[in-house]
Amino acid sequence: MSLPNLTLLDHPLIQHKLTLLRDKATSTRDFKLLTAEIATLMAYEVTKDLPTESVRVETPLEAMQGRMISDKKLTLVPILRAGLGMVDGVAQLLPTARVGHIGLSRDEESLEPSKYYAKLPHGEHDRDFFILDPMLATGGSAVAAVTTLKSAGARRIRFLCIVAAPEGVRRMLDGHPDVRVYAAALDRGLNEHGYIVPGLGDAGDRLYGTR
Ligand code: PRP
Ligand code: URA
Repeated sequence: MSLPNLTLLDHPLIQHKLTLLRDKATSTRDFKLLTAEIATLMAYEVTKDLPTESVRVETPLEAMQGRMISDKKLTLVPILRAGLGMVDGVAQLLPTARVGHIGLSRDEESLEPSKYYAKLPHGEHDRDFFILDPMLATGGSAVAAVTTLKSAGARRIRFLCIVAAPEGVRRMLDGHPDVRVYAAALDRGLNEHGYIVPGLGDAGDRLYGTR
């Protein structure tokens, strides 16, 4: 399956931590820590094309022109609940980013998402959005989140997940071809319950110790 909208982030540190994350013996505490660490490493890679500008700085010895990220209005948008686990990790590198929230819950039978919450910062037109959700399975939640952002006026959107299924990446390509998907892994597919296989299980439940 050709997935031109997908960028895989296969840095050795990301792969190492992802393997620990997948392990069913990993505790809730470690799952939370690893999710945040992977998100930080992903943020490093995903921001490598941010524009910079020349800025004058005075070192203790002399003045020089340094470079800083141009006045970008960066916005993180975790999809509740599991996306929350990635926010602090990304914010470590982007501490001034605003944070919007979109609440989506996937019905266990139909696998379709229903929206129960949305709160976004103003000025969507000028902002760069990073949607965060560890799992891109059928893609229903991801596509719904992008649709919500676009309806509010957003134009530049990227989607960061830890594990993606080909079905979800494809659905994003069909629904929103302008949105690049960044993932730490592209897994084999989905099982009959819509879970990614081999995957890592239910990310929200493993993060919060529910079920
Ligand atoms: C999970 C996950 C994604 C969604 C992915 O959330 O965090 O949001 O499922 O599945 P999809 O690609 O088939 O839409 P869930 O709805 O289980 O909610 P939770 O984060 O509150 O556990
Ligand atoms: N949501 C999860 O948390 N895990 C999956 O494998 C699929 C959807």
